[in-house]
Amino acid sequence: MARIEIFDTTLRDGEQSPGATMTLSEKLRMAHQLEALGVDIIEAGFPISSTDDFNAVQMIAKEVRRPVIAGLARATRLDIDRAAEALENADRARLHTFLATSSIHLQHKLKISEQQCLDQAVEAVTYAKTLVDEVEFSPEDALRTDLPFLTRIVEAVIEAGASVVNIPDTVGYAHPAQIREVIGTLVAQAKGVENVVLSVHCHNDLGLAVANSLAAIETGARQVECTVNGIGERAGNTALEEVVMALVVRNDAYPHVTGINTRELHRSSQLLSYLTGIHPQPNKAIVGKNAFAHEAGIHQDGVLKERTTYEIMTPELVGVPESQLVLGKHSGRNALNRRYRDLGYELTTEDLERSYKLFKLLADQKKAILDEDLISILHHGTMEDVPQRFKLHTLDVVCGKRPGEAQVRLLDEGVEGELSVGIGDGPLAAAFAAVDALIPFKTQLDDLAIQANTPGGDAVGEVNLRILVQGRTFTGRGASPDVVDGAVRAYLHAINKAAHASTLETKAMEQSNYLWGV
Ligand code: KIV
Ligand code: ZN
Repeated sequence: MARIEIFDTTLRDGEQSPGATMTLSEKLRMAHQLEALGVDIIEAGFPISSTDDFNAVQMIAKEVRRPVIAGLARATRLDIDRAAEALENADRARLHTFLATSSIHLQHKLKISEQQCLDQAVEAVTYAKTLVDEVEFSPEDALRTDLPFLTRIVEAVIEAGASVVNIPDTVGYAHPAQIREVIGTLVAQAKGVENVVLSVHCHNDLGLAVANSLAAIETGARQVECTVNGIGERAGNTALEEVVMALVVRNDAYPHVTGINTRELHRSSQLLSYLTGIHPQPNKAIVGKNAFAHEAGIHQDGVLKERTTYEIMTPELVGVPESQLVLGKHSGRNALNRRYRDLGYELTTEDLERSYKLFKLLADQKKAILDEDLISILHHGTMEDVPQRFKLHTLDVVCGKRPGEAQVRLLDEGVEGELSVGIGDGPLAAAFAAVDALIPFKTQLDDLAIQANTPGGDAVGEVNLRILVQGRTFTGRGASPDVVDGAVRAYLHAINKAAHASTLETKAMEQSNYLWGV
């Protein structure tokens, strides 16, 4: 029985998913949840790629203490210096450096020979080792790399000081038998491999990422790189929850353990969905809405008689809260706090106060408040991740009339503004047009999704949207039993992020002007 290390790259490879951008405070919140989930390593970002990524790695390295914190770097001194600087405050830091090794990448992208590639990899690992104790090397596109060359480069980086060697299937091209052959060959033949952790990193372009990761474990990989909900570039990465539960449920076939607290899987998935607005499809294994729903009569009958007839794991094992009618209009703060505690959330006094206010508003409009409503309220109530320059004061919408008409009044830095009237194709377009007339920059709506979190006509609608402001993307979310209200709140959430980004940029410019002047 071996211990399989879980290397979570939700905040790096996962964040590379279109639309999955998170703010600094959102990343920190996710990192704390990953710590509670029990991951061994958090890859917090790619520091040289942007100031935001640098700040995220630096902040997570400072605040999240138990897991190893990793930062990504290309195999160059500049990248490595930047990553090492971001990792400075970590209790345990890992510098993850990578260089493509397949002939396709060497010829067309890097335009270097195999020897130059090998020299650069060795130089990068040697240099990284002078700055950070733990160095991981990834030969990018390893599964399309000539196996003898891959073996040589793995041996060379081990000799140079890498303590983890990761084998990425960068384009999701491999199949399980091929993974077994490649990992098996490295385990059997690469000199020094017994002294390092061999890792695997699979993309899901053919839907084989989890199967390939398990095949790698079978043949000797002891670290799996993965993301919550399987988010990531293109078709995504290996889904953390799937690979972990395969190891738990099929321990007969994969007799290994991880440090994951499986009861935190559902919560981790939910939090990521709230933060990114990207929800897993309903039939997604482990964390999809239907993953434990039995629809067919025969199945329901079987489960009622004996759960194991149609259930290979219990919902409780992955932390799905039992849905039940809970609180009502007359419930107080203590009851609300207790229910949140039952659901696994420890609220600060501030969060409880904010959630309680929203709960009361909702209880006036909705008879049955379900656990999903409470979770929605909690996330809605704690979304003040950037200063809320603009707040909604009044919203009046005329529905069922074409064109739609909406009247909006905002608070700007707490000061009541003038009433704006917007006209649009429908109520949403009209409300957005009314908001547009009150803000100091132009926005373009890029994407909008509405999802009902609970059954019934009085469900809380959660709205996630994406806007473009001067070529930059900002996401927003809002939740309300009234979808137009929820959409305007989501719109303002994104607008406040854009306003905050512009304030930060102006400050940075002023500072650099000042320095130039000196
Ligand atoms: O997919 C990939 O090759 C990567 C590397 C940076 C590990 O994400
Ligand atoms: Zn990747």
